[in-house]
Amino acid sequence: MSKILEADINMLAKPFLKWAGGKGQLIDQIKERYPVELGGTITKYVEPFVGSGAVLFDILNSHDLTDVFIGDANIELINVYRAIKYYVEELIGELSCFENEYQEG
Ligand SMILES: C[S@@+](CC[C@H](N)C(=O)[O-])C[C@H]1O[C@@H](n2cnc3c(N)ncnc32)[C@H](O)[C@@H]1O
Repeated sequence: MSKILEADINMLAKPFLKWAGGKGQLIDQIKERYPVELGGTITKYVEPFVGSGAVLFDILNSHDLTDVFIGDANIELINVYRAIKYYVEELIGELSCFENEYQEG
């Protein structure tokens, strides 16, 4: 595991994008309506319209899942999830370059 991931292993996962229709601001109300079975021991989660993943990340933070499947019609969005999953350190490096360029004006 990378140093970045080791250092942050206890942080809660949360959406990394503002997304049209994202459910971040409604998550407390949505949680109240989760199926009763979610209070138990589900191990698999399928989210076919993941968007920014407000519900996905809430479920990931509160359940010990072994299988998670996400999908979205927006291929650019799915590419971002793939980049985070498979190339997180390279992605952080690229974003740091943008940040430095921005701050240097
Ligand atoms: C409102 S967002 C989802 C919000 C998200 N579930 C959350 O927890 O914040 C809806 C997503 O569905 C995707 N979408 C719309 N039509 C779709 C389709 N036919 N198949 C797959 N994804 C679709 C959109 O690209 C968008 O990212």
